[in-house]
Amino acid sequence: MLPWFQNGQFPLYLAPMARFTDIVFREFCKAQGADVMVTEFVQADALTREDPKLWETVDFTEAQRPMGVQIFGSNPKSMAAAARMLVERLQPDFIDINFGCPADRVICMDAGSSMLRNPKKLGQVTGAVVRAVPDTPVTVKIRTGWDDNSIVAKEVGHIVEAEGAQALAIHGRTKVQGYRGEANWPVIAEVAAELSIPVIGNGNINSAEAVIRIREETVCAGLMIGRAALGYPWIFRDIKHYLRHGTVPEPPTIPERWATIIDYTRQIMARPFREARHSDLRWMRPKFIALTKGMEGSRKIRGALGAVNQIEDLQRVAEAHCAQYGL
Ligand SMILES: Cc1cc2nc3c(=O)[nH]c(=O)nc-3n(C[C@H](O)[C@H](O)[C@H](O)COP(=O)(O)O)c2cc1C
Repeated sequence: MLPWFQNGQFPLYLAPMARFTDIVFREFCKAQGADVMVTEFVQADALTREDPKLWETVDFTEAQRPMGVQIFGSNPKSMAAAARMLVERLQPDFIDINFGCPADRVICMDAGSSMLRNPKKLGQVTGAVVRAVPDTPVTVKIRTGWDDNSIVAKEVGHIVEAEGAQALAIHGRTKVQGYRGEANWPVIAEVAAELSIPVIGNGNINSAEAVIRIREETVCAGLMIGRAALGYPWIFRDIKHYLRHGTVPEPPTIPERWATIIDYTRQIMARPFREARHSDLRWMRPKFIALTKGMEGSRKIRGALGAVNQIEDLQRVAEAHCAQYGL
């Protein structure tokens, strides 16, 4: 059993989110109480071709452990080779395989959620990765199925368990659903009850009440929080506090939230990311929009963030926003 599930622990994972859950963002989530983290997904073939951007993406700090690196691909050999390289160079606590991504560029490679249409091959890929890194646990992340007529989570769960995966995260939506609509928690609950390995439930968790309800209604061994953490990484702190004391702490003030965003930006710019080597912050605008979502007046801020190029612009947007609300 992976150590973070032992003794009735109920780990909260930060869901991997490409372009958002970078090393700096993860550090903040960890400080707020996220228990287990996974890197953004990286293509196995490109990793073995030494694509420097991908090696930046899979970097993590010691404080972020237990830490998984997530890979995707459809070729058992290259997936195994990528896993071996990652283990040799980075010694992650686990390798996670992505069988859930619905993006066209991933589906055309027959990878991500496309593999849910071919459970046999999905099993071969999983087995190849497990055998390639015998001393490192391998976990798997899936969706419930391709569409409502092909819900395969249970079948796939049994396959990956037999191939040696040590945990299964299930995003309770189908590929066709994308990120819309309700997550199918009854399916997640059913698979969690069937399998011997821990099942991590995922989909629309945005409050401590939701965590408590799912804990009561399912035998999930842990939960994974995605978009709710993007705009409000303090969600981990809030949930942990609620579970311990039954109350949610005061939310950070708007100036505190802006200070966090500006500090985050400075830290990103100080890292050797390829994008960060340019002082222009345009590439970070989607991150700013995600981080300000849910703030009072966030629609208006979004417009202003569209014009941010330099850190001084960002500071001006923050000051104007605080001034507007008398903060
Ligand atoms: C922008 C974005 C990027 C994502 N990138 C990944 C990824 O790299 N790997 C992965 O397994 N899932 C990825 N996901 C899916 C999330 O990990 C998660 O399964 C999904 O958002 C559902 O959880 P939520 O309802 O809490 O957001 C991504 C989701 C979003 C919104």
